[in-house]
Amino acid sequence: MGKSILKDIVSVIDIGTTKICVLIATQDSDGKLDLIGFGQHPSYGLKKGVIVNVTKTVDSLKKAIKQAENMSGIQIDTVAVGISGGHINSLNSTGVVAIKNKDINQDDVDRVVEAAKAVALPQGQEILHVLPQYFKIDGQECILDSIGMHGIRLEAQVHIITGAVCSAQNIIKACEMTGVRVSDIVLEQIASADAVLTPSEKELGVGILDIGGGTSDFAIYRDGRIMHSKVLPIAGNHFTNDLAIGLGIPIEKAEELKKTHGFVFEECFLDLDNDKITIDLEYENKTKNIETYSLYEILNPRAEEIFDLLCDELVKYRLQGFMPSGIVLTGGGSLLLGMQNLAKNKFGMPIRIGVPSCYKSNITPVPDLIKSPVYATGYGLLLYASGQDRLDFIANSDNSAFKKIFKRMKSWIYDFL
Ligand SMILES: Nc1ncnc2c1ncn2[C@@H]1O[C@H](COP(=O)(O)OP(=O)(O)OP(=O)(O)O)[C@@H](O)[C@H]1O
Ligand SMILES: [Mg+2]
Repeated sequence: MGKSILKDIVSVIDIGTTKICVLIATQDSDGKLDLIGFGQHPSYGLKKGVIVNVTKTVDSLKKAIKQAENMSGIQIDTVAVGISGGHINSLNSTGVVAIKNKDINQDDVDRVVEAAKAVALPQGQEILHVLPQYFKIDGQECILDSIGMHGIRLEAQVHIITGAVCSAQNIIKACEMTGVRVSDIVLEQIASADAVLTPSEKELGVGILDIGGGTSDFAIYRDGRIMHSKVLPIAGNHFTNDLAIGLGIPIEKAEELKKTHGFVFEECFLDLDNDKITIDLEYENKTKNIETYSLYEILNPRAEEIFDLLCDELVKYRLQGFMPSGIVLTGGGSLLLGMQNLAKNKFGMPIRIGVPSCYKSNITPVPDLIKSPVYATGYGLLLYASGQDRLDFIANSDNSAFKKIFKRMKSWIYDFL
C-alpha cells in the first residue's frame, strides 16, 4: 500500500462491553471525511468497559476488522481506540509560569501546561488527556490563541484525565495481536461528545451521558471546552441482568425483551397495547407469560440508580448550574423506552437523545448505517482521530505538549509489553 494512500485513511475501533465496531474513512486534503468501511461484532472479553479476557477480545476484534477491511478494500495499519471503565479518574489543575520574553510563545504555553499537569497520581495511574480549560495572562482570562500576546504571568487550568496503565496496555496488546498499531487512546465520552453535541451546546454548557453496556460515561462541556468527566459503573447490561434474574429467564431472552418491551417511565405504560407478553423459552420448549408492567417495576429502579449517581456527582461538584443546554443521552442504553422522560423529571432540564451528526460543513452527512446512539463513540473517534474537532489547540500544534504526553504515554505502555 502506497504511503500517500495511508495518509488519507482514518481508522478507529470502539471496543465496547457489548460490541466492537470498526470504522474506516478517507479524508481528502480539505479534511472532508467519507466512511468507506464498517465492521461490527459482539464483544465477549470485556466487563464494565475493561478488557478482562484478551483472547476473546482479539477474536471479536479480528472479525470486526476483517468485515470493515472487506467493505473498504483497505488494510488497517494504525487505529485510534476508545477507553473507559471504573479506573478512569479526572481532576482540574492549574499551573503558573513567568513569561520569559514578555511575548508569549509556544514554549511558554508548553511550560504552563507542563506545570498544570504536575499532580501526584495514584500508583498504576497515568495521564491520558490534558485538556486546557482556560488561560490567563496577568490575571486576565484570554482566548486560546494567546501566543504573541504580551504579559508577565501565564496561568492555565487544565482538565486531566487519568487511567490505569494495565487497562490501556490490554487495549494496545489486543489490537497489536490482530496486527494493528494503536496511534491514540481517547476517553470514550470525549469521542461521543464530538459526535453528538452541537457546537452551541458545548459553548453554552451541556452534559453528555453515554449509557453503554458496561459503563455510563459522563462529561460536561462549557465555553466549548470539557469541564468535568466521570465514568459511572452502571449501564445497559445491568438492566438485562435484572430482568433475567427478576423473571427467571435466560440472559438472551432478557436482552430481547428489554429492547422490544422494556420501559422505565411509568406513563409509557398507557401507550402500550398489551398488558401481558408471552415469551418463548425455545430450548425448554415452554412459554412464559409476563405482566408488561413488571418490566417497568424491574427496570425503573436501575434507571433511577444511574440518574441518582449522576445527581450525586452534580451535587458533589456543584455542577447543576453549568448545563443550560441540559443533558444529551446517548449510547445504546439511551434507547430504552422512557429514559428521556425519566431524566427530564429527575434533572428538571432539557434532555435529548444524541445520534452521530454532522456539525461541520466539510464532513459528508453521517451514513444511515451509523445514525444511532450506539455508534456515538465510534463516529466520535473518527472525528477526533481525523483532527476535525480537537478542542485543545495544544493537540493541534506541532510541537505540542499533547504529543509529548502521548509519546510518553506510549512509552509507558510499550515498555510494559
Ligand atoms: N433499543 C434498545 N432498547 C434498550 N436498550 C438497548 C437498545 N439497543 C441497545 N440497547 C442496550 O444498549 C447497550 C449497549 O450499548 P452500546 O453499544 O452503546 O454499549 P458498548 O459501547 O458496547 O458498551 P460500553 O460503552 O459500556 O463499553 C446494551 O446493554 C443494549 O442492551
Ligand atoms: Mg460504548
